[in-house]
Amino acid sequence: MTDQVLEALQTSALARIQASASLADLEAVRVEVLGRKGTLAGISKEMGKLAPEEKARIGKLLNTAKQSLEQALERRTAQFEDAALDSRLASEWLDLTVPAPGIRPGSLHPVTLVQKEIEDLFVSMGFAVLSGPEVETEYNNFDALNIPQDHPARDMQDTFWLEGGNLLRTHTSPVQVRGMHRLGPPLRMIAPGRVFRNEEVDPSHEHTFYQLEGMMVDREVSVAHLIYFMKTLLKGIFKRDVAVRLRPGYFPFVEPGFELDIHCLLCDGAGCPVCKQSGWLELLPCGLVHPSVLRMGGIDPEEWNGFAFGLGLTRLAMMRYAIDDIRLLQGGDLRFLSQFGKASN
Ligand code: PHE
Repeated sequence: MTDQVLEALQTSALARIQASASLADLEAVRVEVLGRKGTLAGISKEMGKLAPEEKARIGKLLNTAKQSLEQALERRTAQFEDAALDSRLASEWLDLTVPAPGIRPGSLHPVTLVQKEIEDLFVSMGFAVLSGPEVETEYNNFDALNIPQDHPARDMQDTFWLEGGNLLRTHTSPVQVRGMHRLGPPLRMIAPGRVFRNEEVDPSHEHTFYQLEGMMVDREVSVAHLIYFMKTLLKGIFKRDVAVRLRPGYFPFVEPGFELDIHCLLCDGAGCPVCKQSGWLELLPCGLVHPSVLRMGGIDPEEWNGFAFGLGLTRLAMMRYAIDDIRLLQGGDLRFLSQFGKASN
């Protein structure tokens, strides 16, 4: 091992460091020369065989070589890093003067649109718009509507019961009860809102949907009045004549009770998944208010009577906008929902 060999080694390593074109090149030189199994380490190992004074001299030279190579590596590394930063700064920039994008205007949900229209229509005929809670008492949802405990009619509506005996209302009819107590006779009220049933979800059924309740209590109200208001309602909604049929329907809180069906507007009566291939859609159950319901609402049925109806708002919105799957309304997909009326303000 001569001094010249070490010197030559150092010179050539320094030259390679200067000539390196990337951080990867540098790393290769470092591993080869300074690494644990590198050239300098190899020389160190050989030194054991030297005489003591030779050992000290060569050891010193080795250290100097090591230090100068390490410094050169560091300097070159810094150069590469600076260059990388410069080119990043040149290519990436932020224009802080560009104006922020505007707020995306929202749009009303199809059910809300239909609801507002019907509210306007009924308000113009002297009806008050009431709302009731979605968590109801068992009494308001069932008992006060003439559906006593253990009566088979309770099975008509699969119910979500809550701990403590309350429930998620299965229909908007409990607002009839609240309305009777609050307004007293004579009264005209509607009550739109969300209702819940323990339903299997399919194109026309959801566990969560919207109804619009209506009730009128006055003197000598007849089925003719009921039919008049229902026809006015349908004409207002569809802006054209829609074929309807009236069937007897059983609801414990009305007597007589009816199912008002409309011709399915999606398939024009031909049959589709939404109308279950029947061509008809149950849209408007209604009837004359049962005397027991009036009595439980604090109204004397000898003096007053009335009609009530429960419109399927969700279903109506589907008819109105030709939506063939109820799940689209609950899905929260803005691409779908924003197709309907833009908010005007
Ligand atoms: N509440 C009934 C239901 O959801 C509908 C209804 C309301 C029927 C008012 C008659 C009168 O099934």
